[in-house]
Amino acid sequence: MTPFMTPHQIELVQKSFAQVAPIAATAADLFYARLFQTAPELRPLFPDDLSEQKKKLMAMLGTVVTSLPRFHALMPAVRALGRRHKDYGVTSEHFYPVGAALIWTLQKGLGEAFTEEVADAWVTVYATISKAMMEAAADEQPKAA
Ligand code: HEM
Repeated sequence: MTPFMTPHQIELVQKSFAQVAPIAATAADLFYARLFQTAPELRPLFPDDLSEQKKKLMAMLGTVVTSLPRFHALMPAVRALGRRHKDYGVTSEHFYPVGAALIWTLQKGLGEAFTEEVADAWVTVYATISKAMMEAAADEQPKAA
């Protein structure tokens, strides 16, 4: 497997996430508000009450960010997450608006600390996780004989 991030990029993501962690609840509020403003068609996929969802998303992001140096070890969990998302009604097209809302939230939360380099590192992380989730979801589809 090709290395997907440099150690420097991993450090940038970990440091920037640590800056957002103290305002995790606000960041989660911002994220969902932005997501449903830009992609209202996604709202029905989520439960009415988002409070549990917000905690789970931030916890999962925290796990991923902490585990970046051992990313391969995280793959089975990420693939399982991808298969569960298929059951939630999530399709490949949904990953773009979610990623855009995530990047927007980080930019809001980090302000000037969200440099182009930090942005690139986050885009790489999100793209890598999304790809693994989408591949796992696709693998489950019945294969032609
Ligand atoms: C890097 C990408 C993503 C991560 C890390 C992530 C993380 C999570 C986590 C941790 C959960 C809690 C349930 C579980 O563990 O199965 C969850 C649920 C969910 N996610 Fe994601 N997610 C991602 C992308 C997406 C995308 C693109 C969508 C598209 C709309 C989405 C929609 C949902 C929905 C609808 C639920 C279930 C809500 C419920 O019924 O409780 N997620 N996600």
